[in-house]
This record gives sequence, structure tokens and C-alpha cells, in this order.
Amino acid sequence: MQPLNEKSAEPITAYLGHVISPLSETEYLDFRQGALLVGADGKILAVGNWADLQIRADLSAYFAGGAAAGLLTIVDCGERLLLPGLVDLHLHLPQVTQTGRSGQHLLTWLNRYIFPSEARFSDTEHARKIAQWFFNELGRNGTTLACVMTTIHKAATDAAFEVAAANGNRVIMGKVMMVANSPEALTENADQSVSQSRELATKWHGYDNNRLLYAFTPRFAISVTADLLAAVSRLQDEFPGSYFHTHLAESLEEIQFVAEQYPQSRSYLDVYDRAGNLGRRSIFAHSIHLDDEDIDRVKKTESSLAHCPSSNFFLKSGVFPYQKMQEAGVLFGLGSDVAAGPAMSMFCVMKDAEFTQPTYWIDPRELLYRATLGGAKAAWLDDQVGSLEEGKEADFIIVDPRRKTGIVDNILSQPSDEILASLVFLGDDRLIEATYVRGKAIYQSTTALSLASSAKLG
Ligand code: GUN
Ligand code: ZN
Repeated sequence: MQPLNEKSAEPITAYLGHVISPLSETEYLDFRQGALLVGADGKILAVGNWADLQIRADLSAYFAGGAAAGLLTIVDCGERLLLPGLVDLHLHLPQVTQTGRSGQHLLTWLNRYIFPSEARFSDTEHARKIAQWFFNELGRNGTTLACVMTTIHKAATDAAFEVAAANGNRVIMGKVMMVANSPEALTENADQSVSQSRELATKWHGYDNNRLLYAFTPRFAISVTADLLAAVSRLQDEFPGSYFHTHLAESLEEIQFVAEQYPQSRSYLDVYDRAGNLGRRSIFAHSIHLDDEDIDRVKKTESSLAHCPSSNFFLKSGVFPYQKMQEAGVLFGLGSDVAAGPAMSMFCVMKDAEFTQPTYWIDPRELLYRATLGGAKAAWLDDQVGSLEEGKEADFIIVDPRRKTGIVDNILSQPSDEILASLVFLGDDRLIEATYVRGKAIYQSTTALSLASSAKLG
């Protein structure tokens, strides 16, 4: 906590509501008459019971006379929930137009639907229009941190960063790299792929005090070469805090292809391992079909996985060994993988994580953790986001389960475990009233607007 005389000059906003915030896989903060105090710098100044905060000595400037001095704005959300913003650890910006294209395994689906739609991103104005829609949708779905793949196109990726920068989203994003085994319209020259990735990282990595971060993004082992992967490893070293983001061991057909393309590698993961791509801030989407040695390497190198259950179900890719990964202590979060995942809502992804496990029961508290703090940990950003804690950035959502028909009216007066179960098993985008990144609204429903306008001053 900073000394009062520094902080007391700054206006703050107190959001009142039922605060729920994961502390671990099994525990969460729970303040029914709670408050989240957000400073002008977009950081969380305090979180707790509203009554307790008002008598806290270090906050007295805001409550004894602070309101009169215009330092305190109160947004009373009533019984609504205040939760940390949701973390989507893997999705594709250009694919938002391609959800629900049915009935094929990965490689056929890519060739039939995805590659043609991504080729259209050579038209930068088309790319900008889709990016605008995409980043609005992230806000509407309550996603405050997203790890995003774009296309091979530098200008389209630049436009995507511009839109995210202006819109206020927090993203880890990068241009897709494709230099082999790809359609002509999506095949790049390897040197150019590296130099354009470097240019984009130079321009955007760390933008706005690290709100935008760069991820070097070879699409998957099939679309690159061992040389390109090694070059990416060197690139990542050039940009401290940058990411490596790719697909891994998603479908059996893909794994067979990789085995033939890289005969010297012991496994699919080993292709990346040999190139030096494993480590902190390396995010591997899917990772369904890993053996014990692979899992051990992921763990030892502190690499992260993005589990994408909706996508795995849709493309019939297989079942992620959830319990095994949990017990092994592997870092993993959840990803929507739009468009193979049909919905951007991380509530839908939480539900699918549970529904796609044939025998393993996942606790709702664990699911909420994976879509918030667990995802932030997997991105090595949990010191900044992922939960509602003093000093962290105020990335949060206002949620009202009553906005979805079929959820019982009295849900908000039920025990918190029951509320959580409703959220993760019945939730979707309709529950989100407002989404804040660093204390600034990136989305507000009409109800939330009326909440804000009726906010009393002091
Ligand atoms: N593997 C390589 N590219 C893709 C993609 O766009 N979606 C999914 N689900 N897997 C991939
Ligand atoms: Zn994907």
C-alpha cells in the first residue's frame, strides 16, 4: 500500500457487489457485500468486505470526507458478481467467421474452410474490419486476456494490434508463420517470415506498459521447418518477455504427418524441444496426445499448455488427459480455439472441459481457476492479472447469471459454490454485464450503462 498522502489525491472508484476471486484450484475469495476499489492508475487499491474497507485506517481519506472532495465514485452492482476477467489461452482472430463449419477432422477442416478464409487477410481492410469485430467480441464475452493467432500477413497483424491498442484489450498475439506444406496463398519465404515477425515484435511487444505482448507463432510443426523453429527460438531471446505460441499433438493424422516430416524426432513435442522452443512463455495448444516423457519435458521446462475442450470435441481430436496433467503439476489454462471451438465464451469452454471428460469430474472451483488465475499463471502474468488482489491490474467483469433464462431467479442468494456451478455449467456471453481492463470498460451492456449512470457520487 502506498502512503496516504500520495494516494489520497487520486480519485478512485468503488465497485460494490459479490466479489468472488480464485486463490487456487480449490479456494476462492468470497465477499458477499464486497467491494473492489480501483485507482486512477487502473490498479486494484483494495478488495474486501465493503463495511470493513470503509473503516480501514489506510483508506480513511476516501471515506472521511473523500466523497465530498469528489475522490470517490461508487458503482453499486447490487447482488451481481464481480469476478476476475476471463483468460482465453488460445484462439484465432481470422477464424471468427468460420465457426460451425462442420464435420471434418483437423487437416481436412483446415484445407476446406480455414485456409481459404485466412487467405482473405491479404486484404488489410477486410482484416481490420474482422479485427474490430473480434476485439469487441472478446469484451462482450468477458475475456480480458487472450492469446491470439492472426494470419501470415504482416499488414493484417499490424492492423489487429492497432485495433487492440485502441480498444483497450490485453493480448498476447503474433503473426502466424507458414513456410512449408501450406497452400500457395499462405506460403511465406522463411527469411521474410522471420524478419516480419521481428518487425512486428519491435513495434508492438510491450506496448502500453505491457498491455500488448508479442508471441512468435509458427502455426504447427507441419507448416514450418526445423531451421525456422530454431530461428524462432533465437528471436524469442531477442525480445525478453515474448512468447512462443503454437499447436501440438492435436490429431492423430497430424501426428503421423509430423513423424514422417521429422523422422529424427522422438515425438511431436521433441520437434519443438530440439529447436529450443520449450520453456517459460511457450504455450502449446491442445497437447492431447503426449506420452509420459513428453509430459515430463513440459513440466521440467515450465512450458504451458492451452487445453481447448470445445475444439477437441468438435474436430473429434481426442480427450485431453486432464487429471493426469493436473496430477503431474503441468501449467495449463483453457482456450476457446475459435473457430474449431464454436464459442468465444470461456463459460462455454469451462462447461466443455467438464463435459468432455468421460469419467473424471472437475470441480467448478477448479474450472473457474483454470479460466482466470490458472490461465494467467500459464501465461506467467499472474503477478499482474488473473485474480482480484491488491496491487494487481483491475481486469474484472460484472456478471449476472439472471440474465440467462433457465437459471433460477434466486441464484444469487444461494451458497457461493452453487453460484459457481451455475456459472460454469450454464453460463455464456449473456451473463456479462461489463468488462474492464486496467480499470477501463472495454464492454458495457445497456444494464451496466444504467448502473454506471446511476452511480452515486460519494
Ligand atoms: N493446427 C494448425 N492450425 C490449426 C488451426 O487453425 N486450428 C486448430 N484447431 N488446429 C490447428
Ligand atoms: Zn488453434
